[in-house]
Amino acid sequence: MNPTVSVDVHLAPADWAAVLATEVRAGLAATPKVLSPVWFYDERGSGLFDEITRLDEYYLTRAERAILTTHAANIAHLPGPSTLAELGAGTSDKTRLLIEAMRDHGSLERFIPFDVSEQTLRSASATIADEYGLSVRAVVGDFHRHLALLPREGRRLIAFLGGTIGNLDPVQRQCFFTALSTTMEADEWFLIGTDLVKDPHRLLAAYDDARGVTAEFNRNALRVLNLQLGADFDPEAFDHLALWNVEEAWIEMRLRARRAQHVHIDQLDLDVDFAAGEDLWTEISAKFTPVGLGEELASAGFAIEASWTDPDGDFLLTLARLQD
Ligand code: SAH
Ligand code: TRP
Repeated sequence: MNPTVSVDVHLAPADWAAVLATEVRAGLAATPKVLSPVWFYDERGSGLFDEITRLDEYYLTRAERAILTTHAANIAHLPGPSTLAELGAGTSDKTRLLIEAMRDHGSLERFIPFDVSEQTLRSASATIADEYGLSVRAVVGDFHRHLALLPREGRRLIAFLGGTIGNLDPVQRQCFFTALSTTMEADEWFLIGTDLVKDPHRLLAAYDDARGVTAEFNRNALRVLNLQLGADFDPEAFDHLALWNVEEAWIEMRLRARRAQHVHIDQLDLDVDFAAGEDLWTEISAKFTPVGLGEELASAGFAIEASWTDPDGDFLLTLARLQD
């Protein structure tokens, strides 16, 4: 096969800038102040996230890779899929296990990675097309808004790995699952990775590592605002905080102002004050139970076909399709 790479861009820079401006303006006016997690993943942020996936404390990536190593061949034997699509693909590192299993099975015709981060997507797509001689159709988009634009080419296995679904709150998740199920056909598959509820100490360590990589990743959101909107945040004047919210079963990531400070955002013509100790909420990472996830999927029209955990029972990979 002659490998080709195409890139559909649904987030033109102007659109992107307008969304950024609107969300930042609303988020910084809210109580508590909040920043959309989408701004973590510029080139530097994606590099820091890659480093997170290799930290001792961050068990998620290793656990999900272990599940894929054991079960990728079973997944590749599903009837049908000739297309592998991946939402929030990033560098598609673990996805290689699926690509290789589907290639060995002889069924794979194309790979469709979807992500907000155009840079990351372009470089990962070129590498994968080259290495596997595979057609890659990359899609730059926001999975909150553009799921309907995921190309419908071939029968698809749509993967959403890494526990990224946990970065959406329950209402956003329901919208996401419903939007996805509406774009799927009866003979297509959805493969989703979720982190499981466990000892809070391990959860907290995964989001507040000893070397401070996660702290730097969190503060990177402020650097993005400085670069993109001409803000004058001093990232070092904020402490990284990870809290376990037991009622909601999610980790909360925040940036806490070390002292009272004033921030000016040039391109928004906006001035923002932080009190000493005031928090800026940046991200949640929800943790699941198999039963809870099953209910969420069912109410969006999915039926679970199979699910697997790693040997330590830390992470869950679930295969679903539309209900009959
Ligand atoms: N799937 C990879 C990467 C997970 S990190 C893994 O399992 O390791 C989360 C990824 O989702 C990043 O690549 C980020 O750019 C992407 N992402 C975050 N918010 C997004 C959004 N709203 N729409 C599309 N992609 C998004
Ligand atoms: N999807 C990842 C997760 O929830 C994203 C992530 C890891 C993250 N560490 C973070 C997001 C720190 C913000 C801050 O595990």
